[in-house]
Amino acid sequence: MSSAEIRQCFLNFFTCRGHKVVPSSSLVPDDPSVLLTTAGMQQFKKYYLEPDVAERDLETRNIVSIQKSFRTSDIDEVGDDSHLTFFEMLGNFSFGGYFKKEAIELAYEFITRELSLTVDYVTIFAGDDQVSLDGESKKIWQTLGVKDVRERGRADNFWGPTGAEGPCGPTTEIYVNNLEIWNLVFNEYYCRPNKTLEPLTSSGVDTGMGLERLAMAVQGQNNIFGTDLFTPLLASLSDALPLRI
Ligand code: SER
Repeated sequence: MSSAEIRQCFLNFFTCRGHKVVPSSSLVPDDPSVLLTTAGMQQFKKYYLEPDVAERDLETRNIVSIQKSFRTSDIDEVGDDSHLTFFEMLGNFSFGGYFKKEAIELAYEFITRELSLTVDYVTIFAGDDQVSLDGESKKIWQTLGVKDVRERGRADNFWGPTGAEGPCGPTTEIYVNNLEIWNLVFNEYYCRPNKTLEPLTSSGVDTGMGLERLAMAVQGQNNIFGTDLFTPLLASLSDALPLRI
């Protein structure tokens, strides 16, 4: 499957399941908490606080998008087989529509049935002094037949907020070929600048899957540079380089 086909397959899958396609927002965000757009949820941040406004603005509570994203948080790993500063993030979102069960089932169906990939293992939030273990996600995965459910701490399995405050919550991550490919965030809290967490009035879903890593798995490559997202660029570079010498 080409990367163009993966994009289309993702949008079709979620459109057929009641999601509306929203275009990628600009890499330069309205959100003053970040210099550049780092995640698909950025343009939707306000909707986690006011799902009724989402329904009014978007005519739905369930969204799918492919967001241009720029991230420097793992810049020390950029240049290895799977990390980039600029990437495309495939995501589905719900603002008070569905929650953990539906989000996990949709992700599992997409990975295993649409793309015929095998889930190696998944991770869930282990809990800490502020938020308890995400036993609900663990049970949902086990019901789907995923036996390897690993518990991880806040650094790995808790997302947000972006900037000093905002929606945040525990995550569950899906690993294929031992690579994290999809992060499902369950926004249940609002984090205040003093780091206290307050429950949101309505829970939300924010997922993000890197197209480049997914293409690597689907196309059976060992690194992102072997996918059709990069090979044409690398071929034109190697064609052009001898001319410059
Ligand atoms: N916001 C989360 C992330 O970027 C999930 O989309 O990983």
